[in-house]
Amino acid sequence: MPLVNSKEWLLKAQAEKFAIGAFNANNMEFVEAIIETAEEEKAPVIIQVSQGAIKYAGLEMSTAIVKAAAELASVPVILHLDHGTDYLQNVRCLRAGFTSLMFDGSALSFEENVKMTAKITEMSHACGIPVEAELGKVLQSADKVSPEQVEKAMTQPDEAVKFIELTKIDSLAVAIGSVHAMKDRTAKLDIPRLKRIRQVVNIPLVLHGSSGVDPASIIEGIANGLCKINVATQLSVSFVEAVGATYNKNPAEKDMRKILLPGKNAVKDRVREYIGYFGCKGKGIIAGAKSGITASEIKHHE
Ligand code: G3H
Ligand code: ZN
Repeated sequence: MPLVNSKEWLLKAQAEKFAIGAFNANNMEFVEAIIETAEEEKAPVIIQVSQGAIKYAGLEMSTAIVKAAAELASVPVILHLDHGTDYLQNVRCLRAGFTSLMFDGSALSFEENVKMTAKITEMSHACGIPVEAELGKVLQSADKVSPEQVEKAMTQPDEAVKFIELTKIDSLAVAIGSVHAMKDRTAKLDIPRLKRIRQVVNIPLVLHGSSGVDPASIIEGIANGLCKINVATQLSVSFVEAVGATYNKNPAEKDMRKILLPGKNAVKDRVREYIGYFGCKGKGIIAGAKSGITASEIKHHE
C-alpha cells in the first residue's frame, strides 16, 4: 500500500500504549529486511532515512526504494526524515514524498530551536505532514559522555510544554538517559522524568539512541508514554557481523548475494526482536489490504 502519514499512527500507538519501531535504513537490503519483517509480524513500521543515508544513497533512490517496498506490503509504512538539521533538508524530503519529518535543533539555543522548528512545522503542516523535534539532547557515544553530561542534557518538562506550544510540533524526542550509537544495551531510562514529562505533555513521545538501552527499560518507557522507538546501531552491527562472518567462512565466494543475504536475515531477526518489545505485533492489520510480498520473494534471492 502507499506510504502512510505518521500522525494518525503515532496517536493510535499513544492511545493503545504500544510503540512503533523506527528503524534506520541505508540501502535496499535494510529496507527489505525491515518491511518484510513488519509484514510477517503484521506491525506498522517507520523507515527512517538520515541525512547520512541521503548522502550515501541519494534522496531520490532512498525514497524510491522505500516507496516500492511499501507498495508490496499490506501493513502501514511511514517514511521519516531522521535528524534533519536544516530547513531546506526538510523541504526537499517533503517534496520527495516523505510522510513524516524531523527537525533536530538540539544543538541550538532554546530560542533558536523554537524559531527554526516553528518555521518547519508551518511549512510542513501546510502539506499535512507531521514534524518531530528534539528538546534536550540525546548525546553521541563517540563523545565519551559521562553520566553527568547525559543528565545535564535531559529534557526539562516545563520547557517541553513551552516548546510544544510555541512550535506546534506533532511529536517530541525526549532526552531521558539514552545515548546514540551505543553497542551494549546497558543504559537505563530516567522513568520518573518520563512520567513528569508525560503528565504535562500530550503529544507522542519519541526515544532516540535506543540501541544502547536495556530492553526492559524500553518496555517500561513504552508503558509510560513512549510511542516511537528509534533503532539504528543494533541493526548495523547485526548486518556487518553476519556479512563478515559469512565472508570469513568462505572468502572464495564471489556471488555478492550469498554474502549479503545473511546480513539481511540478521537485520530481520533484530527487527523481529524489537517489534516484540514494542508491543506492535498485529497492530498493523488493515482490513482489505493485501500483501504483494510472496514467501518465495522473501526467501529466495537466486
Ligand atoms: O535517530 C536514530 C536513533 O536515535 C538511533 O540511535 O543508533 O543508538 O539506535 P541508535
Ligand atoms: Zn537519533
